Amino acid sequence: MCGIVGYTGTQRASQVLLEGLKTLEYRGYDSAGLAVLHQGKITVEKVSGRIANLCEKTHDGLSVEGCTGIGHTRWATHGAPTDVNAHPHLSNDGRFAVVHNGIIENYAALREELRAKGYTFRSETDTEVVVHLIEMYYQGDLKKAVIKTVARLEGSYALGIVCTDHPNTLFAVKEASPLILGIGAGENFFASDVTALIAHTKNAVYLDDGELAELTGEEVRIYDCTGREIQKPVSRITWGMEAAEKGGYEHFMLKEIMEQPAAVKAALSPRLKDDEIVLDDFELSGEYLSRVNKILITACGSAYYAGCAGRYAIEKLCRIPTEAVLASELRYCDPIVDEHTLLIVLSQSGETADTIAAMKECKRRGARTLAIVNVVGSTIAKLADNTLYTWAGPEIAVATTKGYTTQVAVLYLFALYTARKLGRLDGEEWTGYLREMRMMPRKLQETLDLSHPAERIAKKYRDARSLFFIGRNTDYAVAQEGALKMKEISYLHAEAYAAGELKHGTIALIVEGQPVIAVCCCDELSEKTMNNIIEVKTRGAKVAAIAKPGNRAILSQADDVLFIADTPSVFSPLLSVVPLQLLAYYTAKENGRDIDKPRNLAKSVTVE
Ligand code: G6P
Repeated sequence: MCGIVGYTGTQRASQVLLEGLKTLEYRGYDSAGLAVLHQGKITVEKVSGRIANLCEKTHDGLSVEGCTGIGHTRWATHGAPTDVNAHPHLSNDGRFAVVHNGIIENYAALREELRAKGYTFRSETDTEVVVHLIEMYYQGDLKKAVIKTVARLEGSYALGIVCTDHPNTLFAVKEASPLILGIGAGENFFASDVTALIAHTKNAVYLDDGELAELTGEEVRIYDCTGREIQKPVSRITWGMEAAEKGGYEHFMLKEIMEQPAAVKAALSPRLKDDEIVLDDFELSGEYLSRVNKILITACGSAYYAGCAGRYAIEKLCRIPTEAVLASELRYCDPIVDEHTLLIVLSQSGETADTIAAMKECKRRGARTLAIVNVVGSTIAKLADNTLYTWAGPEIAVATTKGYTTQVAVLYLFALYTARKLGRLDGEEWTGYLREMRMMPRKLQETLDLSHPAERIAKKYRDARSLFFIGRNTDYAVAQEGALKMKEISYLHAEAYAAGELKHGTIALIVEGQPVIAVCCCDELSEKTMNNIIEVKTRGAKVAAIAKPGNRAILSQADDVLFIADTPSVFSPLLSVVPLQLLAYYTAKENGRDIDKPRNLAKSVTVE
C-alpha cells in the first residue's frame, strides 16, 4: 500500500521517480504523483489511476525539470482516489511538499487546529495536516520543523519532504511504515522498498522508527528523534534487477509460482546441516521449549492460511497445543498469553498493520516472539525476539505464492527442530523427515510438472458463479488458501469448507454443474473425503480432485484429477497448494483479469 520514492542527484528527477514508482506498483495503488524542485519552485503533477497516466501527463517526465524530488503511489484510505487527494501535498505557501505512507490517526483534531489558525485544506486526506504543520513550525530550520511536526503525529508514517529553501535536499522520516535509503555515487535515494532502489544502487540503509534522514547528492545524514546525528550501517542488497523482472513469463504471479522450488530450497537448505537443523543465529533450547505450553501463530491473508497448514505439523510432531489466529482478531480478543506462550508471526512483507498490532499486544503480555518474514529489515523482523527469513526473494504479484510456500516450509523446519529439541524425534523417523525436507524443492518441481492439466480445467470453470473447495485436516488448510487465491485474482466467488461440514448446510448449495475442488492428500482421511466427493457428485457437482499418486481410486470418482508428488500427509500442503495456485491463475487468465494487480487489493496492507 502506498509507495514512496525520493531522488536527489544529477539526473532528471521526474524520470528516476517514475521508474521507481513503476517498481512499487505491485504494492497496490489508485493514484500517483510527484513533486520536483527547480529554480526555487516546486512543480507538482498528480493523477488518479495508473502511473501510465502520470507518464502521459508529464511526457515521461520530460516536462518536469529539476534533479531533486519525491514521488508517491496512493492507495486511498481517507478520501476517494482523485487527482486532488493524490500525493504530494503542498503547503499553503507552496514552499513544502510531502508524500506519506501510513495513517495519521489524530488528523481530525490537527485539521481543526490548523483550520482555526488559518490554514486552507485542499484535500480530504489525513496527510495534508503534515505539510501544514511543517509550514507552521518552520523558522528557517527544516530539520527542527520536521521534528516538531512528527512529535504531534499519532499513527504510522513514512514521510518524504522537499522544501524550496533547500534546493538539493530531501528529508525523510519513518515511524511504523517502511523506508529505506539508497546510497549512490553523487546521488541518493529513498523508497518504500528495495525494488525501487536496485536499478541504481545495492547499498541500503534501513531506517528505524523515529529516525530522520537528510539527503543531498553528496551526503546522507541520519538523526534520532531529538535531532542528534547518528551513524547507521550500510547493508548490501543481495539480489539483482532480474529478480524484480518478469524473465519471460506473462505475469509475475506465474514466474513466482515457477520459482517455488528454488525459493523453498533457499529457505530450507542453509538450515539443514548434516543431521541437524540450525536456526540462523539463534537457538531455542530444549529447556525453554519444554516450558512453552502454547504456540500461537498469527498473520493475515495467505500468511494466516500458511499458519493453519503449519499448525498441524507443529501439533503432530511437538505435541504442544498450537492455534492459528487471524491477527485482526487476536489484537482485540484479550488473548490469554503469557511467558509460556510462543508467538509465531508470519508475514511476507513484514509490514502488515494488524499483524504488527497483534504482535505488540502479545509481547506486552509476555509472549516470546518468533517472526517468519521475507522482507529483510522490515518492521516485524525488527520487533521480533527472533527472526527466520524465508529468503523467497522479491514477490511482486499481489497474490502471494512463493511467499506462502516458503512460510509453510519454514514452519515445518520449526516443527522438526522443536520436536527434536523436546526429544520427540530420533532414529529413522528423524532422518526420514530430514530427507523429506531435502527433497522438497525437487518434489515441488515434480508437482509443477504434474499440474499442467490446471490450464485445461480452468477453461471449464471460467464461467462458474462460485466454486467450493473442500478438504479435511491439512487438506482443509490448503483448501482455504486455494479458495482465497481463486477469489483474489479471478474475482469468482470461492469458499472453503471442512469436508465433514458439508452436510451441515453447504450441501444445500450443490446443484447440477457446481464446481467442487476436493483436496485429498491426507492419507488417513482420503477415504472420508472421497465419500464426500461421491455425495456431491450424486447431486450433480463437477469435481476436480488434488491427490497423491498412489490414489488411483480417485480417478473413477472425480471428473478431473491433479496429482502431486508423494510426501507424508503432514507435509502435503507445501505441494498440494501448487495445482490450486495454477488453477486460480489460469481461471483469472481465462477471464482476462489484471492478475498481478487485482482490483482493490494491496500487496502490503499497512493500515488496519
Ligand atoms: C495482503 C496480500 C496477501 C498477503 C496478506 C498478508 O492481503 O495481498 O497476499 O497474504 O496481505 O501479508 P503479509 O505481507 O503480512 O504476508
